[in-house]
Amino acid sequence: MYEVIYCSRTGNTKKVAQAIASELGVEAKDIINNPVISEGSLVFIGTGNYGGKPIKPIVEFVAKNKLKLNKISLFGTSASGTGGEVVKLERLLAQSGLGVLTRFHCTGKFLFFRRHSPTDKELTSAREFARQTKTQYPDIVSTFKTN
Ligand SMILES: Cc1cc2nc3c(=O)[nH]c(=O)nc-3n(C[C@H](O)[C@H](O)[C@H](O)COP(=O)(O)O)c2cc1C
Repeated sequence: MYEVIYCSRTGNTKKVAQAIASELGVEAKDIINNPVISEGSLVFIGTGNYGGKPIKPIVEFVAKNKLKLNKISLFGTSASGTGGEVVKLERLLAQSGLGVLTRFHCTGKFLFFRRHSPTDKELTSAREFARQTKTQYPDIVSTFKTN
């Protein structure tokens, strides 16, 4: 099973989450609704960059769910578009012995900067990222046949 969890203050990471989720055929879940994840899922976790770091609710979510998380992909948005939020989140996960399978980052609108971000091109890249992750890590369970 694939799950897409995000925290998005101004809607940028939400757009990326929805692009990824639509490619995977699932719904993106806002962290605000306290999503429950299933053990064994490949969980895509998305965050904006706040002061060079992932946003606090995502850090808390990871801490709370570290026993359930084993297959993880990360995505992030930032004004700089350099992906520091993803790097930091990956480091944080590593402290709990958790590795990351794939990662994606792009730009996000911030005040008067990057007014069109994430751009259509970046959202297309986000879908491509989801497709590639899916190919690399197929959802074995759901393809089992019972007869
Ligand atoms: C308080 C605050 C701090 C931010 N700090 C950074 C930063 O250090 N580096 C950066 O590249 N972008 C920074 N940004 C821009 C956000 O990372 C960017 O707008 C991101 O796409 C927000 O994602 P969201 O709309 O999903 O919450 C900051 C934005 C805010 C509001």
